[in-house]
Amino acid sequence: MDKLLIYNIKTLYSNNHIPPVKGKLMKDISFIDDAFIYIEDSIIKHIGSGEYKDYINDETKMFDAKNTIAIPGLIDSHTHLVFGGSREHEFSKKIAGVDYLDILKMGGGILSTVKQTKEASFDELYNQALKSLDIMLSFGVTTLEAKSGYGLELETEIKSLKVLKKLKEDHPIDIHITYLGAHALPTEYKSKRDEFIDIILNDLEVIKNEELAEYADVFCETGVFTAKETDKILRKAKDLGFKLRVHTDEIDSIGGTEVALNLEAKTVDHLMAITDEDIHKIAKTNTIANLLPSTSFFLNKEFAPARKLIDANAAVSVSSDYNPGSTPSENFQLTMQISGNKLRMLPQEVLTAATINPAYSLDVEKSVGSLEVGKKADILFLDCKNLDYFIYHYGINHTKYVFKNGKLVFQKQDLR
Ligand code: NIG
Ligand code: FE
Repeated sequence: MDKLLIYNIKTLYSNNHIPPVKGKLMKDISFIDDAFIYIEDSIIKHIGSGEYKDYINDETKMFDAKNTIAIPGLIDSHTHLVFGGSREHEFSKKIAGVDYLDILKMGGGILSTVKQTKEASFDELYNQALKSLDIMLSFGVTTLEAKSGYGLELETEIKSLKVLKKLKEDHPIDIHITYLGAHALPTEYKSKRDEFIDIILNDLEVIKNEELAEYADVFCETGVFTAKETDKILRKAKDLGFKLRVHTDEIDSIGGTEVALNLEAKTVDHLMAITDEDIHKIAKTNTIANLLPSTSFFLNKEFAPARKLIDANAAVSVSSDYNPGSTPSENFQLTMQISGNKLRMLPQEVLTAATINPAYSLDVEKSVGSLEVGKKADILFLDCKNLDYFIYHYGINHTKYVFKNGKLVFQKQDLR
């Protein structure tokens, strides 16, 4: 048995409430100064403060946390990790003010990435995503949700899902896979929408039989899929045993949230355009409002009404939405900092939104998402004075050490 004692932790922070952690409880963080963590194999066996000699014997390995602060490994519960190429060729258009959905209408946007993803080999997709995963790990992400969605036909979707499956085996980050077949309407189906929906319904069965994804997702938006179409796809997915996550209310509110709540989706994602009525509906459920503020930042759009959601007693998470179009950045710490500054969430709320609530939405809240006895030792050590400092000093990587399952998997290389 591996025994490990991590000592010299300035302060340890964790939200230890039973998830989904809603409303006021989101800011109720437990903290321990001068902390230590005793780990056996991959599991936290004790968390204490001050004297730790009772937890040391001849076999115990010692690790000096160097007076850093400790928080649970971060959980990024909405990413589009696998795609071919990039979209910097559209960046000048975007700067000139051409709208995101207009670029898509012109055959660019998601459709441009679809072309590049089709053309990419398995190895090219794998290597590009692997590089992103390494960056995410360096920012302290230890659990991740990742979607397909740049195929829009079965062969490329399966290729992307298989890339994710292999990455899940190969990389220290725990990956939860989502099939997002209905991410955009292919140009050739513009006048035969129903045919495309039928194909997706059929493909869901194939993906299920091959056990390639745990979740299903749909992009419910003006010009993409209607609430009715979303309902049809998600209903079938649910019947097949998929758990649900839904892109909705990103730009317009067209009924996707209600559809998602009726089907007990794990998350409703984006919500920049959510109505007050839907805010109160979410608060009455265990569905997590998954906000993606890096996307608002990059698209120069409204920010989601996080304060209204929390004040209405909803459970909120935040995610990077890493993708080549609306969020070309793996920096989840930046997402957390934007959540403070632009969503007006308190640092304590942001921590909850990046740890225990996303753990709940991914059904892993029993093993990760907080620093408690019996949970996996997924721990992020930050070179910060305190939690407020982490959210306030924005745009840089504060990571000092990342532990996954009790093993050191990343450490910052100091120049001096
Ligand atoms: O979550 N909104 C839909 N999907 C992604 C963007 C995909 C893209 O532009 O490539 C999102 O923002
Ligand atoms: Fe997304």
